[in-house]
Amino acid sequence: MRLLVTGGAGFIGSAFVRHVLGAGQADSVLVLDKLTYAGNMDNLAEAAADPRFQFLRGDIAEPADVEAAVNQAQPGAVVHFAAESHVDRSILSPEPVIRTNLNGTFTLLEAAKRHGIARFVHVSTDEVYGSIPEPHDADETYPLIASSPYSASKAGSDLLALSYFRTFGLNVSVTRASNNYGPFQFPEKLIPLMIANALEGKPLPVYGNGMQVRDWLFVEDHCRAILAVLRQGRAGEIYNIGGNRSLPNIEVVRRIIAATGCSPDLIRWVTDRPGHDVRYALTSAKLERETGWQPQVAFEDGLERTVAWYRTHRDWVDRVRSGEYRRFYDQNYGNR
Ligand code: NAD
Ligand code: DAU
Repeated sequence: MRLLVTGGAGFIGSAFVRHVLGAGQADSVLVLDKLTYAGNMDNLAEAAADPRFQFLRGDIAEPADVEAAVNQAQPGAVVHFAAESHVDRSILSPEPVIRTNLNGTFTLLEAAKRHGIARFVHVSTDEVYGSIPEPHDADETYPLIASSPYSASKAGSDLLALSYFRTFGLNVSVTRASNNYGPFQFPEKLIPLMIANALEGKPLPVYGNGMQVRDWLFVEDHCRAILAVLRQGRAGEIYNIGGNRSLPNIEVVRRIIAATGCSPDLIRWVTDRPGHDVRYALTSAKLERETGWQPQVAFEDGLERTVAWYRTHRDWVDRVRSGEYRRFYDQNYGNR
């Protein structure tokens, strides 16, 4: 299979590229990526040595860039990861989120329709379901109650992708995964931010009361699930992907403190995120039933591997924390 992977220089996209090439599941992989603050060619260093791999810098919201990528890749399938993916940034500055997540997805879908691309996997998130009250777990029919500009843009792009199946017969599946963690994650999300700060003895900013619950999925388990959906998923269907490991944020932070050996005194209780979703919880029963996929990495093992990676990749962390990162950090945390 010839693949066009958007956002392949980001955290999950680059893990997916490593996974499909390593598993011999693609004849060729072309990554189309704008290389925003979150995209990084270092994440693709291993793949770049593979003759099946190609890279094109471009913007998914620019039709000419998408056209060039499709012409170069001649893909049998598109796996669409590219997004502005951080909730806090979407609160501070929603414009690029709407442009990339909505216009960008639209531009890709149009190109897929025009070129008759045989398969399209739209990578989305459980955030589209909003906060799930106890004791429920969201299945794929749960209402969309998006809270942030990020989650609303993902919900909109999910509906757009599904409309291209219903209206134009494009072979689209949508995946909705829970919170990912693992190596190469940009240090703005909870786990990599806490690990990076803990290793440097910097404050650990916990929003609100720290009792918000997230379901944690190791990135390699997510990549195996996306490949299963690409191969076996049905057209027009949505597939939840969860890690079966729900934890309150403060418990995650305590485990990171234990794993890094830093002082608990680094915890700072800071002003809550506006519109903060209290609990994400989902069932992946449909994906398990239809493909046999199950998460394989226990949270304890995944966290240990992640902490070990950040310990041994301080240079990577230093490089991605550019001036732009410091501006965002001051803006997001400065007045909390
Ligand atoms: P990320 O922020 O690490 O990477 C996003 C990538 O997209 C970057 O390489 C960036 O350069 C690229 N990009 C951004 N705008 C672009 C544009 N206009 N054109 C081309 N490339 C562009 O994100 P991630 O955490 O790897 O998430 C990947 C996908 O998975 C996203 O669609 C996200 O919504 C979804 N998702 C993420 C999580 C999570 O926990 N991180 C969970 C569920 C779903
Ligand atoms: O659920 C899937 C989603 O998970 C993905 O779609 C998003 O791309 C991804 O960013 C993530 O969204 P969250 O908002 O859940 O992730 P984040 O890592 O930003 O925050 C996780 C929890 O930790 C959340 O309750 C807010 C809290 N938090 C986060 C940060 C960055 C803190 O308490 N302190 C922090 O500094």
